[in-house]
Amino acid sequence: MDIILFGPPGAGKGTQAQKLSQKYRIPQISTGDILRANVKEGTALGLEAKKYMDAGELVPDAVLIGIIKNRLLEADCANGFLLDGYPRTIPQADALTVILDEIKKPIDAVINIIVPTDILIERLSGRWMCSCGASHHIVFNPPKSEGICDTCGGTLFQRPDDTSDAVSNRLDVYQKQTAPLVDYYKKKNLLKDVDGTKDIDAVFANIDTLVAPFK
Ligand code: AP5
Ligand code: MG
Ligand code: ZN
Repeated sequence: MDIILFGPPGAGKGTQAQKLSQKYRIPQISTGDILRANVKEGTALGLEAKKYMDAGELVPDAVLIGIIKNRLLEADCANGFLLDGYPRTIPQADALTVILDEIKKPIDAVINIIVPTDILIERLSGRWMCSCGASHHIVFNPPKSEGICDTCGGTLFQRPDDTSDAVSNRLDVYQKQTAPLVDYYKKKNLLKDVDGTKDIDAVFANIDTLVAPFK
């Protein structure tokens, strides 16, 4: 099962990728999580990426293409993978096609999670993240104990790019640079639209029906 979870900031890509990863035992590959881990460790990549991320801009394509290529070649991707937050530009999507052709693992489906802007803003402003990739929401998905991740027991934190200025820029950047991929994947007959406004379990049930044939 080789799947792309696609959608604007706050659509629920990470939330759904986590649930699919647990059910199908294939890795969630979140480029945002990989970049944040590098920022935390203070690597050269992290230092370079941080200025873009904090402003809600995309990190340059060449950096992302290098990251994703290395990650897809790791052994745990052999039985499938869930891409969360990649690709975000046409050059990233073209590079992905080349990489996947080489390893003979074409994309099975692109799940396009559709959520209107007002709800996206509400979700991002109440989000609490965990470094394991899980995300909670103070109202929509509160943790069982305050400040602690249900999945791994880690300490939850708010993302520096969930401030209102960064969020509004991320939404603009999505429209300008990432939304053109909807047509790109529609033309390849891979795009599957999902109503992302339902509750988390209802969205999951819908996505699960779409991806189950690729198990
Ligand atoms: P990234 O980490 O990918 O952020 P994003 O795309 O902005 O998306 P989010 O992670 O904010 O949203 P999500 O869709 O995962 O939603 P979530 O499940 O958390 O990227 C961050 C930055 O890294 C980028 O801005 C860029 O700088 C850089 N970057 C990353 N990849 C890159 C790339 N390929 N190229 C260039 N730069 C890149 O849900 C949100 C909240 O809503 C949570 O609180 C959750 O609990 C709640 N929620 C989820 N689903 C529901 C539901 N159905 N009902 C109610 N609440 C819900
Ligand atoms: Mg995410
Ligand atoms: Zn966790």
